[in-house]
Amino acid sequence: MERSLVLIKPDGVERRLVGQIISIYERKGLNITALKLIKPTREIVETHYVEHKDKPFFPELISYLTRGMVCAMIIEGPNVIETVRKINGATDPAQAEMGTIRGQYALSKSENIVHASDSPESAEREINIWFPETE
Ligand code: CMP
Repeated sequence: MERSLVLIKPDGVERRLVGQIISIYERKGLNITALKLIKPTREIVETHYVEHKDKPFFPELISYLTRGMVCAMIIEGPNVIETVRKINGATDPAQAEMGTIRGQYALSKSENIVHASDSPESAEREINIWFPETE
C-alpha cells in the first residue's frame, strides 16, 4: 500500500471546494487516513517546496500557500501516487484534461488548487513535514 501527501491549497478552501475535491478521491476508492485544516507557517511551506527555492515564482508560491487555510491529507491506496496525479491533472490547468481536478476547477499555473506527492520518497518527506505527529 502506497501513501501520498495531498494538499487542497488556499484557493480551494476559499472557494469552498474541499468537500467536492475530497469526494473525487473517495469515489475512486482511495482511503484518506489523516486530514487536517491548517494555516501553514512560512517554514512549513518553504521546507515543502525547497526544490523550487531558486525558481522565479518561489516568493509568489510561498505567499499563495501561506495566505489562508490548507487542507492537508494523507491518502493511501495501491499505486496512489500515480492515481492521484492523474486525478489532479497537469500542473498547468491550461494543459490539464477537463475531467481532472485542475481541468475542472483551476485556471492559473500558480494557483492550481491541489498538490500531490510525485514519488514515494517525496511522499514520506512531505508527510513528515505536514504530519510530524504521525512519525
Ligand atoms: P505543485 O504541484 O504544488 O508544485 C509546485 C507548485 O509551484 C505548483 O504546484 C504551482 O502551484 C507552482 N508553480 C509551478 N510552476 C509555476 C510557474 N511557472 N509560475 C508560478 N507558479 C508555479
